Amino acid sequence: MIPSDVKATLSFSDGSPSMELPIYKGTIGPDVVDIRKLYAQTGRFTYDPGFLSTAACQSNITYIDGDKGELLYRGYPIEQLATNCDFLETCYLLLYGELPNPQQKGDFVKLVTRHTMVNEQMQFFLRGFRRDAHPMAVMTGLVGALSAFYHDSTDINNPQHREISAIRLIAKMPTLVAMAYKYGVGQPYIYPKNDLSYSANFMRMMFATPCEEYEPNDVLVRAIDRIFILHADHEQNASTSTVRLCGSSGTNPFAAIAAGVACLWGPAHGGANEAALNMLEDVQRMGGVEKIGEFIKQVKDKNSGIKLMGFGHRVYKNYDPRAKLMRETCHEVLDALGKTNDPILKLAMELEKIALEDEYFVARKLYPNVDFYSGIVQRAIGIPVSLFTAIFALARTVGWIAQLNEMIGDPEYKIGRPRQLYNGAAKRDVKPIGQRA
Ligand code: ACO
Repeated sequence: MIPSDVKATLSFSDGSPSMELPIYKGTIGPDVVDIRKLYAQTGRFTYDPGFLSTAACQSNITYIDGDKGELLYRGYPIEQLATNCDFLETCYLLLYGELPNPQQKGDFVKLVTRHTMVNEQMQFFLRGFRRDAHPMAVMTGLVGALSAFYHDSTDINNPQHREISAIRLIAKMPTLVAMAYKYGVGQPYIYPKNDLSYSANFMRMMFATPCEEYEPNDVLVRAIDRIFILHADHEQNASTSTVRLCGSSGTNPFAAIAAGVACLWGPAHGGANEAALNMLEDVQRMGGVEKIGEFIKQVKDKNSGIKLMGFGHRVYKNYDPRAKLMRETCHEVLDALGKTNDPILKLAMELEKIALEDEYFVARKLYPNVDFYSGIVQRAIGIPVSLFTAIFALARTVGWIAQLNEMIGDPEYKIGRPRQLYNGAAKRDVKPIGQRA
């Protein structure tokens, strides 16, 4: 960390001695005030629920400028990566810090491809679930269960174990997501086919059957690959922080990633793509474009509990750069499928236009996030809505692993242990049951 010449001074109105706090500079982005000695020197904690002003770690992986609407992986703008690279190149970049040269890419693709099959026993584990289980319930279980199948890569403190578990997770997630899907629809699992690209292989495992081969369509494969790139990492979001916190106890990488999957499921996070599409379908059922005004009115009414899903972001106070790319992909996919008159796309575009002009959304800096369009793309490809968040988990796995490995390699890493402001009862004595009110 680079110390700044500026120092912060914390003073107290009760006459307690003031304290000087060091400030550190990053490459770009806000400086941080180092409060690590605060408790030892003052007996006070800081209070910041939701981490509105707290940097919980230092990281070299992803940078977001929420005001500008900028997202960089290892310094590279997301727009350039989404246009010039494929998902496995992006994985290499996130894991190792640099884009691969042709030789490195070839070796990495080969390595990942050779790990795409899962232990045959996993299908019996999967069979324990109800067929109508939510894919994210299944994925949380399957990813957690990997630690029971791959004992030779569970020591988080061993760099070789971390390396092989990273490759295994990236390689096996598409297989597991496709298995969860096939199980739900009652079709046989399709084994990975190693002469296909990562994304084409995923689509074949989803859509081929033993009686009919699936011919991957280049535009759709590229769209899925782009969805993976755009979701690959997003610095210290809720699921990534969950993975870091979980992994900080020294648990195995599969268990830590399973915790990330569980966190991602929530509708305020990865579950928003599913929620956004369900919302668009609800508005369509209500009467479509004609009913947008009425729907926006409900969203603005705090008592309705209705949010414009796919809008708003803790960090972006501008258009999410991923949403712009997703919007572009959305048009390409619907063109390729001859679905340019898709009523849900029309509705989404109209809703976006109205929301971007409405004072409520303008004043709160609420813009479309990546989930607003990704659901339309996935639905057009034939992916069921309930699988959207599992696909997000597939893509985010590399980010979770890169962040987890970075944390374990950081000499300043400690078990995560937040503190609290206790507001409960002061010490009191237990009364015998007959004397309790
Ligand atoms: N629709 C309507 N109002 C909203 C929305 C929305 N989507 N998002 C925020 N607001 C309002 C809040 O009610 C609040 O209004 P107030 O100041 O009058 O009380 C104000 O905007 C600020 O919102 P907060 O909830 O304080 O913002 P926060 O940073 O905590 O939340 C979040 C961000 C959770 C993403 C929120 O915008 C949201 O719930 N959006 C919808 C869900 C969604 O799309 N999530 C995906 C996030 S991206 C991702 O995970 C890939």
